[in-house]
Amino acid sequence: MCGIFGIITNQDNISLGKVVLEGIKRLEYRGYDSCGIVALSNSELHVKKDSGKIDEIQKKINLADIPNNSKLALAHTRWATHGAPTRKNSHPHLDCSNKIAVVHNGIIENFLELRKMLTEKGHLFESDTDTEVIPHLIEIKMKEGLNFKDSVVEALKLLTGAYAVAVCHADYPDSIIVARKESPLVIGIIEGKSTYCASDIPAFLPLTRKCYIMDDDELAILKAGEVEFFDLISNERIEKELRTIEWSIDAAEKGGYEHFMLKEIYEEPIAIRNTLKISEELLRVFANILLSAENIYITAAGTSYHAALAGKFIISKFLGKHIQDIECSELETQLKGNLQKNSVIIAISQSGETIDIIEAIKWAKKAKSVKILTITNVVGSSITRSSDHVIVTNAGPEIGVAATKTYSTQVLTLALIAVSIAKIRKIISDEEIIKYYEALTGIPNIIEKFLEKNVDLIKYIVNNLEKNMNYFFLARGISIATAKEGGLKLKEVACRFIEGYSAASAKHGPISLVREGFPIIFIAPPDETYNRLVGNVMEFKSRGGRIISVVVESDEKITKLSDITIRIPQPADKYYNLFSPITFMPALQLLAYYSALAHDLDPDKPLNLSKTVTVH
Ligand code: F6R
Repeated sequence: MCGIFGIITNQDNISLGKVVLEGIKRLEYRGYDSCGIVALSNSELHVKKDSGKIDEIQKKINLADIPNNSKLALAHTRWATHGAPTRKNSHPHLDCSNKIAVVHNGIIENFLELRKMLTEKGHLFESDTDTEVIPHLIEIKMKEGLNFKDSVVEALKLLTGAYAVAVCHADYPDSIIVARKESPLVIGIIEGKSTYCASDIPAFLPLTRKCYIMDDDELAILKAGEVEFFDLISNERIEKELRTIEWSIDAAEKGGYEHFMLKEIYEEPIAIRNTLKISEELLRVFANILLSAENIYITAAGTSYHAALAGKFIISKFLGKHIQDIECSELETQLKGNLQKNSVIIAISQSGETIDIIEAIKWAKKAKSVKILTITNVVGSSITRSSDHVIVTNAGPEIGVAATKTYSTQVLTLALIAVSIAKIRKIISDEEIIKYYEALTGIPNIIEKFLEKNVDLIKYIVNNLEKNMNYFFLARGISIATAKEGGLKLKEVACRFIEGYSAASAKHGPISLVREGFPIIFIAPPDETYNRLVGNVMEFKSRGGRIISVVVESDEKITKLSDITIRIPQPADKYYNLFSPITFMPALQLLAYYSALAHDLDPDKPLNLSKTVTVH
């Protein structure tokens, strides 16, 4: 996720540099590891860019200082996906002639092939990004004699992946060309005067409330105060509806949601679709290293540790080896003196900046020759420096302190590695592999369907439980991870006391707390643990427990025993069951979110917590 902003105007009385800087700053929540601006004046492109947060860059190079007569500019704030967060990887990116500039949000999946083809044709690249292929492809098309618009259209046809792009050309000072496929793009307009493009509405909301929302496979030509839309596939002109935005800037930044936490829960399907784009080659690198390792550890903190618990379960199923989970704060204490050579540590950290995990893997690297395989959401974060191989989850920045979409994408990444292992080992048939992939690619739809239909039910449950201070979240097998994570969410944002526990172990102590009406949330996908879980539900029900269960749509047995069920719209089969830590989680995240609201708490700023824990 990155932010793009552009303006083309015929107004003399505005400070273009200031407008662009303010516009891109309102998109900084979409990414903040580098920023850049390109302005066009006297048939030349003027580029300013650097790594860091916008305010830091501003102090160094005054991004707003662009030529006075400029009437067209593009800007970008980056959340790195390909290439470290450095100046050279910052957008905009230019072609060889320095005439074409592109800012891009998305992921170009076939950029390596395109880059190879372009390099063979003599094009020179300055960055490690996927984006840089785009201006070079447009350059080729223009050299072939196509006009600016058709060159962009033909270049985009060569891309696979997701993009929202804005392009300008030094010889076309009256146009910005933009296009969208699977990444957001909106156009703001003051008719006859100025036109804006942006990844999100807040970027131009103080300037205009009139806007067009672009859909996939659409292209637009922006001129000062005018815009024309085209279907990217047929290249035919299309009409689009001009809308008036009623939101405040604050609401717009959150996409109309009241809080970032809610927005990020609703972003899970798109985040998951992006994670599904992780290259098979990289997954195979992880899979092969795990296959040849003698000892495997998986380590993380908090929510990432719960992702590790779910992921180790999924990977072990296909790996044929035990994986030991250790909280990162305990790694050195537990492994000191017993860390063998040919060990592998899978380190998981959303931020890549949690001090405990950074120190743990630094210690492990120094202690013995072990391999560190890292899964993080932040390219170039500190953890990546001590890692042998890194997978980036592609969830986009998470602003809410409680981890939501990053949890799903961490589990999904581990699940993708697991299926890659199954493929290499050939321990299941090709048909079964396909079924696992179908289940994985089906996850976003299941979550979308759930979120569409179940918010009222979750609010009803919250109202029903409002006065309770203590809860159990119980499960067996892989769902213990789900119970722990669902419990952690409710604990941190709604300030309730939760025990997220194994349903079997809960009878060895915790059950003594159960009285009439004590709420117990059972996580109950129909997997191999289901029948035993039925027994556990009965034990707690017979002691007066109030049973809320999370089950699949076709569930019967546990439904009959429950006071309320939350039904996840997914098939009752082993392929989907294995990924239930992902599909069941939005229900529990929503439960935590609405519980926080019911207790007048701000779910984006849980008490005593910060997004990144950089102290021991
Ligand atoms: C809870 C939460 C924390 C983090 C933990 C590790 O919602 O976000 O428990 O999961 O602080 O952070 P990362 O994954 O950044 O290392």
